[in-house]
Order: sequence, then C-alpha cells, then structure tokens
Amino acid sequence: MSKMMLVAVLVLCSTRVMATSHHEMRGTTSFAARIGEDASNPPLLVNISRAPHTVEVNLTAAVTRLALQPGVMSHAFAYNGHVPGPTLDVREGDHVIIHFRNELPEATTVHWHGIHLPFESDGSPFHPIQPGESHDYMFTVQRGTAGTYWYHPHPDKRTGFAIGKGLFGAIVVHAADDPLPPMTEKLLVLSDNRFLADGAIDFPDAASSNGGIDEENGREGPVLFVNGKVMPTITIRSGEIQRWRVVNTSAGRIFRLAIHGQTMTQVGTDGGLLESPIDVNEILLATGERVELLVRGGAPGTATTLQNLPYDRYSPQTRPVDWKVTRDLVTLRTTTDAPVRPTAIPVRLRTITPLDTTMATAVRTIVFGQGIINGHTMDMGRVDVSTRVGATEIWDIANIVGMDHPFHLHGFQFQVIDRDGVPEPFRAWRDMLNIPKHSTARIIVRYDDYPGKWMFHCHILDHEDHGMMGVLEVKP
Ligand code: C2O
Ligand code: CU
Ligand code: CU
Repeated sequence: MSKMMLVAVLVLCSTRVMATSHHEMRGTTSFAARIGEDASNPPLLVNISRAPHTVEVNLTAAVTRLALQPGVMSHAFAYNGHVPGPTLDVREGDHVIIHFRNELPEATTVHWHGIHLPFESDGSPFHPIQPGESHDYMFTVQRGTAGTYWYHPHPDKRTGFAIGKGLFGAIVVHAADDPLPPMTEKLLVLSDNRFLADGAIDFPDAASSNGGIDEENGREGPVLFVNGKVMPTITIRSGEIQRWRVVNTSAGRIFRLAIHGQTMTQVGTDGGLLESPIDVNEILLATGERVELLVRGGAPGTATTLQNLPYDRYSPQTRPVDWKVTRDLVTLRTTTDAPVRPTAIPVRLRTITPLDTTMATAVRTIVFGQGIINGHTMDMGRVDVSTRVGATEIWDIANIVGMDHPFHLHGFQFQVIDRDGVPEPFRAWRDMLNIPKHSTARIIVRYDDYPGKWMFHCHILDHEDHGMMGVLEVKP
C-alpha cells in the first residue's frame, strides 16, 4: 500500500465510524485503485484475495448509530459501518466474490444495479437473505462493461426503507484498456434524506398525509448529501481536468446538475463510455442513473459550485413548495498553484455497435400508469414478459400520467432508439431511462446470456415497493 493511500485510509477510519470492518483495513489491494486514493471519495472494499483477476470482499449490513448529519446521531443501517457503503472497485474480467452477511433485523438482498450477471447473483426479491444469514454473491465482470454502477438492497416491498436507512454503495468497473488518459477520479454518490428533530430518519406512517405524499412523489428529503457529506469541497488545479463519476441513489429525487459558470464534458452513461465526449451545460440524472463527466479547474484561487437546478418531475397536487429552489451540492475550489497544461482528451472513446432494429423478434408495449405497469401491480408469481436467450426486442414505453417515472431493467443494458419519436442523438448503454410525464420512449435490448427472471420497474422506490414492477423471464 502506498504511503498516500495509507494516509487516506487512516483519515477515513478516524473521521468516519468506529464500526469499520477489519477486512477493509487489510491492505492487500493488488489492483490500481485510483478512485480510492482520494480521501474525498468513499472508502474502498479491500480485496482479501491474492489470486489473479479475483476480487473477494466482505460486506455486512448491520444496524448502527452514526452522525449522518454533522453532530446529530441517527439510527441507521450501514454496509461495513459506512454511509454510503464502501466502493466495490473492480476491473473487466475480474471474478468477484462478495461474502455478504445480513445482521439486520429484517430480510434483505444485495442487488448489483446495472451489472450483467447470472440471475442467482442479481439480489432481486426472488432471493431474500434472512436475518443472521450469509450469502456469497458471485459474478465475472464482462468485457466492455467498464463504467459506474451501484449496489443496494432489493427486498420485497422494503427497498425504499432500506436505502433510506443508509444502505447504498458505488461500484466502479475499470476498463482493461481505458481510452481516457489517467487523471484524478472523483466519485460523487448523491443522496437525500429527511430527519426528525431528534435525528431519527423520517419515515412517516403510510396512512398519514405525509406518508401519502411520499407514496405519490417518492420520498424526498431536504438534506442533500454527496458521499454522505453536506456541501463537501473538491479541490482541483487550474488547467486540471478531473473525471467525475456521479451516482444518483435517491429514492425519488431527480438531480439536474450544473457547475456554475462551466461547461462540463459528458463521457459516459450507466453502462460506460460514450463513443465521443459531448459538451453539456447541465445533466438530468434520474434515480438510479449514473454519468461520467470531465470537470475543469478555474483560475487559480477561485471557487464555484456544483448545483442542483429545479426540475419538475411531480404531479401538480403533490409538488413540493420548494421545488423551484436551486441547491448547492459541492464547492469546487481551484488551488492557488500555477496552472497545469490540460490533459488531451481523445475525440473518439470507443465504438458502440448499434443493436439492429431489423433483428427485433418482438415489440413489447409497456404502459406506465400511476403506480402500475400495463394495468397491474407486481406479482412475483406472474411472468409479464416471456422471451429467450439470444432474442433482440424493442420495448415501447409510454408514460400516460402527469409525473415522471424512471424506467429500470435488471441484468441487461439497453440502447435508446427514440424519445417521443425523436431519434436519440448519440449511442449509449443504459439501464435507467427517465420517462417524463406524458411521453414515450423506445429502447432496444438483446438478452445475450443469463436466463432467469429479471425485474423491470419504476426506480422511484416508493412506486417500486408498491408494485410498479414486472417480471421478464428469459428462458434458456
Ligand atoms: Cu436499482 Cu431493481 O434496482
Ligand atoms: Cu437494478
Ligand atoms: Cu414511478
């Protein structure tokens, strides 16, 4: 372990929680972990395996008490004592083994959101892990899937509660051959929460009017966190370009991100890099969605902010009064050091082969109502879409109601064909797609492997928990 990384680990261990698992402190990381060498990023899950191309980690979900807000203790759930949980940092081709232990008082699962893996390791509601039980999740990270993912519980009807209690963490998959030059990488795990005066996490009674509003909107909170901190500072040098991986783990909040006075460059989506970088003034990041951005330092000694701009995803009856307020998320401070020469960014990052619409064997019609899909709520005993390994399908998704519903498919990355009939301007791999109120989108997906029963759902967790979810069965 390098001296710098040791310092980072020690700082994290002393300023965060005492309940850190010992496994995290055993420094046997054999892979280059740029994302972990920076104290502003969440801690890493440390690889306890010495075998080549193998990542073996211990992950425990447990009840804990910690200062989620500065100086205020809350009863929370945490992975290895941290909120957010430690980052799973792997490379394409790695065999990953997660020794998971459930020390919670309720059943849980760990879902590896966006990862292409065998059904048995998906951590869906089909495979609950009871209190006191352990389970080994296993998968091999596929070639071409380098990108930013995340993990979270997915128990039947309790996902929003478990994530709201503190169970979420990031996954970074590094490419075997990354087209972007080495640069400082930052991970920004976005979340929001709402607390009672005594520090308790606020989950109103489902029968109360606040409970009803949460059920309609998806639970939101006024406290906005980046890596579990309120308004942290990220430092950068003048002329420097940093690579930011941003994950939205919120139950309901859609972030509309902008850096005051700066055009960012988008280089990636859920499933990894784009074909070419794209300059953007703002990014809409739905629940569950990820993005990779290049961010630049300003003039020496200056500062700016990453902000969340207003975005109206709500139905008018339950729209929060403060929805139009711009919120600050991160201070981006440029050091007084002399400017460095900006790293050259390649104009071409990779080729994304388009899925061929003429090869589609079925067109699925998916209609989002309020809390229902195609007129139904979730039934784990029912199969909503049945198909076979190797099939290519178009999903024609229509949101017929007056609020946004972010669509998510387990297990397979898809490409967007068009939105409201407008062809998608660039190719990208995604597992999340916000479907704005009264709009449509068509996606194309190929089930190239892994038979099983896969969930598709609205990623507003209150909607998902109330049954806005369906089952896709991929037969061998
Ligand atoms: Cu992020 Cu079905 O989940
Ligand atoms: Cu998922
Ligand atoms: Cu929804």
